Amino acid sequence: MKHVLGFDIGGTKCAVMLGRISGQNVDFLERKAFRTADTNGADDAVDTLIAKAETILQNHGLTHRDIDAAGISCGGPLDSEKGLILSPPNLIGWDRVPVADRIGNHFGISAHLQNDANAGALAEWMFGAARNTSNAVFITFGTGCGAGLILNKKLYTGTNDMAGECGHIRLSAVGPVGYGKSGSMEGYCSGGGIAQLAGMMARERLQSGQSAAYCENINEIEHIDVKRVAEAARQGDEAACKTFRTAGEYLGRGLAVLVDCLNPEVIVLGGIFGRCYDLLVHPMETILQKEALGISLSVCRIVPAQLGEEIGDYAAIAASGISDE
Ligand code: BGC
Ligand code: NA
Repeated sequence: MKHVLGFDIGGTKCAVMLGRISGQNVDFLERKAFRTADTNGADDAVDTLIAKAETILQNHGLTHRDIDAAGISCGGPLDSEKGLILSPPNLIGWDRVPVADRIGNHFGISAHLQNDANAGALAEWMFGAARNTSNAVFITFGTGCGAGLILNKKLYTGTNDMAGECGHIRLSAVGPVGYGKSGSMEGYCSGGGIAQLAGMMARERLQSGQSAAYCENINEIEHIDVKRVAEAARQGDEAACKTFRTAGEYLGRGLAVLVDCLNPEVIVLGGIFGRCYDLLVHPMETILQKEALGISLSVCRIVPAQLGEEIGDYAAIAASGISDE
């Protein structure tokens, strides 16, 4: 049995949790989260994370010495070896933040920083849908989109932590923008990308005097809620269905590149694509069958994350590199 502190740092929210790993199981003893925008920059956010972790330990009658390690999960670019967050586009003003040292020194434990998608891959591989596989890809779709790669039973991080940055692959010459690049996989296949697509579809409908169930007038286009788009699609709204059909098709195109390059045995979809799997699976499979090599596709399962909404928490714990085998 191991006690691990997990830290999940994102553009929208930060969370800290205490997990107890026993075998292939994690019990989450407590979790505290706050909005990143409510803090005063990187130093303040890290101080807040540490203070909340202290409260959690106290609540459970634990001291620093009871903790085996800490894991920190954050979107790239970052330097996992030095434990530095470089300047991620979704964390404005966070520049070379020595987060692993700050947390490790405070608690007197080893703290390990990992790219969020890589950490998610470790989590699904240790505790979820990719258990007992040798070659697995995990894709996270949040504010951004990125992949974590398990190759030959090992996390593959690349030369400077940039392996699996599939969100930046351009899938079409024009299209929704992700990370400043139009038509990229992140543009089409992230929470923000789907909101952009939904906006484009709603604009088309509204301008021709028709309606979109998730967006009643043109002024709302900037504030589209992807959850509402998904609900509308499940009820057959045309603009919403077209949004998910397009996202699913581009997802299929992106996955075909990964299938052909990596020949994985499973691809696990997290975030919005895990939650909206029902809406995406048909267009995704249609394009995959057209684009990927059949012999590679025949051995590859494509499934939603088994760890569901808790994947981010599992990822933070898995980033510690600690297991209980
Ligand atoms: C970043 C990746 C990250 C992904 C999901 C992308 O924009 O480049 O490092 O994994 O977003 O947060
Ligand atoms: Na990655």
